[in-house]
Amino acid sequence: MKINFSKPNLSTPSTLVVGVAAGGVAAGGVAAGGVPGEAARRLDEETGGALSRAMKLSRFDGAAGKFLSVLAPHGVASGRVVLAGLGEPGKFDALAAAKLGGGIAAQLLHSGETRAAAAVEPPEGAPIDAHVCAARLAHGARLRSYRFDKYRTTEKESEKPTLARLAVMCPSPARARTAHAPLEALADGVFLTRDLVSEPANILTPPAFASEIAKLVDDGLEIEVYGGDRLAKMGMGAIVGVAAGSQHDAHLAVLQWRGAGRSGSRAPVAVVGKGVTFDTGGISIKPSGGMEDMKWDMGGAGVVVGLMRALARRKARLNAVGVVGLVENMPSGSAQRPGDVVTSYSGQTIEILNTDAEGRLVLADALWYAQKRFKPRVTIDLATLTGAIIVSLGKYQAGLFGNDDELIARLAASGKAVGEPVWPMPMDDHYDELIKSDIADVKNIGGRGAGSVTAAKFLQRFVDGGPWAHLDIAGVTWADKAGPLAPKGGTGFGVRLLDHLIASHYEGR
Ligand code: BES
Ligand code: MN
Ligand code: ZN
Repeated sequence: MKINFSKPNLSTPSTLVVGVAAGGVAAGGVAAGGVPGEAARRLDEETGGALSRAMKLSRFDGAAGKFLSVLAPHGVASGRVVLAGLGEPGKFDALAAAKLGGGIAAQLLHSGETRAAAAVEPPEGAPIDAHVCAARLAHGARLRSYRFDKYRTTEKESEKPTLARLAVMCPSPARARTAHAPLEALADGVFLTRDLVSEPANILTPPAFASEIAKLVDDGLEIEVYGGDRLAKMGMGAIVGVAAGSQHDAHLAVLQWRGAGRSGSRAPVAVVGKGVTFDTGGISIKPSGGMEDMKWDMGGAGVVVGLMRALARRKARLNAVGVVGLVENMPSGSAQRPGDVVTSYSGQTIEILNTDAEGRLVLADALWYAQKRFKPRVTIDLATLTGAIIVSLGKYQAGLFGNDDELIARLAASGKAVGEPVWPMPMDDHYDELIKSDIADVKNIGGRGAGSVTAAKFLQRFVDGGPWAHLDIAGVTWADKAGPLAPKGGTGFGVRLLDHLIASHYEGR
């Protein structure tokens, strides 16, 4: 779908989307059920009141997320007018505008319409300007209209999406275009993450993933890739051990963006990702039901890569480094066994009591490498680390762990702002007791309880003391049903969150 910005023009032949706010009060103090914006009022006049009649007949009240299509009304060039609920004016912020754009895309993508125009002005009292509203609406529409369809070869024309163009109308299209430019870079990053997460594991093997990353030199990133032999020589026994059962070597990829310029801090923000391209569990093999989901066990690495693309494409004013550990966790004659002891890059020894707790082994070496080499200002890792986080928090929000209250608060606030919520989890020393090994420095599983917390405490053993946070994204990386800003499938959860965190706290300073 192509998006462009233009001046309001209600005589367009395209499907027209206009806004209606919630919370109108009619004479006598009863809720009037929706306050039409200026465009909606003008169209209502031109249609001889067809829109207000339709609103009454269908109990449309302008609530956020509600839509009402009015087909073939008399007196307008467009064959269809869509009334879009904006919700309460005071709550119509940047995120609400993006969700509105997502809702518009969802309404029209398969509607049979090829062209639509949104003439939605922020309602009076809204905290955003018209050009911000337009840019965010466009961003949301683009995010929601994503599709992963490279493996569909026989889809019928009648089942394909029809909407090809969306014109977003506002009084100053040039300002909207400027506000949209960094969001376009951001969406490019989100789409790369979704593509990677959706890709099946026979295609996206660790070396194939590394090759995809190498292509990002075209975005202006510096890329280094290390293969299994090199990692073994460097002493990365933890990540190498996970790959032992696979036909494919472990790979570690390093992505650098240097955008700090003269004024900003030279020390980078480091983002580290778990990239298990398929997780069978290894010798501690998983049950077969649902195992196909484990193709997206590289979601953390996917976020790191998508974020680095977004930062590069919008020329973010900071230094950032991404480190991803890429492995496939397979059982075979060469696979590591429960009971094995490996020596990690940090020098600490790890007793492997369950080969299915492999993500933390990958991250142990990747985290230590990122900190030792780059001395980052902050280190943030992302991983589809535990099934237990889905038990704790479901598929709505990610688990947030860390050693720094300021960083935790910033992440929580950013998550709220972009609609990628994260919830702080405990990190008391008590949980560290649970991963003490009888024969090595640490073991890779705790007891039955608090599985996400013992996993995070394991990671903390490989943090050198600088500010660090860990996001357990096992519940949010893949969606079984469409959300406001994504179709079902890979969500890209984490890219917009970290982009917002970086823009708010680490750029140009
Ligand atoms: N990749 C899984 C976690 C996971 C499970 C992600 C379900 C998404 C959906 C991870 O490697 C794993 O297997 N964790 C184990 C840990 C256990 C062996 C301590 C788990 O959660 O069961
Ligand atoms: Mn596992
Ligand atoms: Zn895993």
